[in-house]
Amino acid sequence: MRRATVLVLSSGIPAATIAALAERFDLLGPGDPDEIDALVAAHGARIRGIATTGKARLDRALLARLPALELVACYSAGLDKIDREALAERGIPLTNSSAALADEVADLAIALMIMARRRLVAADAHVRGGAWAKAAFPLGRSVMGLRIGLLGLGHIGSAIARRAEAMGMHPRYCTRRAVAGCAYPHHADARALAADSDVFVIACPGGPANRGLVDRSVIAALGPDATLVNIARGEIVDEPALIEALVSGQLGSAGLDVFADEPNVPLALRQLDNVVLAPHLGSATVETRHAMDESVVRALERLLVPG
Ligand code: DGY
Repeated sequence: MRRATVLVLSSGIPAATIAALAERFDLLGPGDPDEIDALVAAHGARIRGIATTGKARLDRALLARLPALELVACYSAGLDKIDREALAERGIPLTNSSAALADEVADLAIALMIMARRRLVAADAHVRGGAWAKAAFPLGRSVMGLRIGLLGLGHIGSAIARRAEAMGMHPRYCTRRAVAGCAYPHHADARALAADSDVFVIACPGGPANRGLVDRSVIAALGPDATLVNIARGEIVDEPALIEALVSGQLGSAGLDVFADEPNVPLALRQLDNVVLAPHLGSATVETRHAMDESVVRALERLLVPG
């Protein structure tokens, strides 16, 4: 029986995943956009699966050239550049790795929150620079008993909420509709959530629908004692407004793993000492990357079952 043909659309798929897929499928790609275009022109009619990341464009025009496509497996939580509507119209399932990486990203959100509020980056420099013997380090801000607002309550938002509860914090959340059976207070509006939060964590998908959702008014509703954490996508926040609020003290602190124009991080942000910065490493551990490899391979294995 002929093996199913799978297109590796994104160059961000790790070698371990590609090796595991190559044992099971006829693989095409990865390649630059011209190479992908040529592969699709030559083999589009027999491509049954796609392995990709949210960063590679999979739009309606490309999908139209793949009449045999049955499944798309995404090696990331974010599905930013994937036309989900076009896939849904053809009934093509789309899987992502959010279950595999939720705990890891949630750990990072909690770490960024504590690091920002206890100023741990500055504290580390204080010790390394020999300042401890000359001056006590300034007091930080607590997290116990605070209200933590989650913008998004999917796998990642829920994992953050569970951790926060265990730390004595009080979760509340914002989604379009209340999550059935969820006891946390619900807000349908990001500004209302911000007004009801001491720590505000962005854990919703990126993409056009949520671009700029955390605007100047949402940031203003947080206040000078609050902390904003973003482990989702930089584009969700109005970055210049965030910088202004952090510089003026209108917002207390921030912990950021994602930025509007990665890997470029504005100088103004890099110069602030009330901000903790990370290079988009939410899922970046050996264990979780392994679980993500597995999730993509397992998803595509459905193609091994004769239809
Ligand atoms: C993803 O996989 O989309 C996230 O950005 C992980 O940090």
